Amino acid sequence: MDPNILATVRDFAASEAPLVVLSGAGISAESGIPTFRGPEGYWTVGSRHYRPEEMATLGMFRSNPEEVWRWYLRRLAVCRGAEPNAAHRAVVDMERLFGDRFLLITQNVDGLHLRAGNTPGRTYQIHGNINFVRCAGPCSNDIYPLPASVELKEKDEPLSDADRAALRCRACGAWARPHVLWFDESYDEELYRFNSSIEAPAGAGMLLIVGTSGATNLPMQIGSIAAGQGALLVDVNPDRNPFSAMAERANGFFLAGAAGTVLPSLLEAMRRDG
Ligand code: APR
Repeated sequence: MDPNILATVRDFAASEAPLVVLSGAGISAESGIPTFRGPEGYWTVGSRHYRPEEMATLGMFRSNPEEVWRWYLRRLAVCRGAEPNAAHRAVVDMERLFGDRFLLITQNVDGLHLRAGNTPGRTYQIHGNINFVRCAGPCSNDIYPLPASVELKEKDEPLSDADRAALRCRACGAWARPHVLWFDESYDEELYRFNSSIEAPAGAGMLLIVGTSGATNLPMQIGSIAAGQGALLVDVNPDRNPFSAMAERANGFFLAGAAGTVLPSLLEAMRRDG
């Protein structure tokens, strides 16, 4: 890696300034989970009957909860079958290195960052987490793990009667829904840490952006705020994207490559003293 980049990252690590990591689906690509907009992406492949953007909506869930659950249980089977990769492990080591100077904001619902070892208190899951459910009523915003009795679906197959009984709100008996942010819903603080995520880049010394195409507005806002207040922006992605351009405009860096290769090198630079 360019010695100038390594020196800049080392200077950041030697400062007291916070590190914010902003991740997208690309960080999980090397774990075998399709990205959203790649060739095999969820939004590209979708489900048999519906366009993908229709599936991930409250409107579709209200009219056809079983179809939406079948799709999510197939996605969850993929996520549960995947293992965190070297990039996830490097992000965990960054948290261990920086402690309270560290914050992770992830768009991913696959849960791999937490499984790798990042702590919930320093991990904002701004699109939710597919391993958790809440009441679709909603009678409350309580979030709890998907009941272990629910069968994950390796292919498009109907829910069993046991699945239907388990996918119910524990308090009121209405359908339970995946704890994820749908296209026809809005961010908020309580469920998705919106305000906290907008505040996070203020004062950050470095914003490390990994594996995201810049297709969603909150991450782009986070990047703009960080760039506007002089943070070092580093974008890691095999392809150029709006974040790489944003980083280079702000005298930061675009590191073209796979997260699983680039992040361990960045971590090594952060580890060296001074
Ligand atoms: N390492 C790093 N980046 C990678 C890798 C890799 N090995 N493989 C692919 N990428 C990059 C792609 O180049 C692309 O820029 O990851 C990005 C994935 O982009 P998307 O599929 O659009 O995923 P993401 O940016 O996370 O989407 C954001 O959009 O639809 C919503 O809720 C959905 O959270 C998602 C959000």
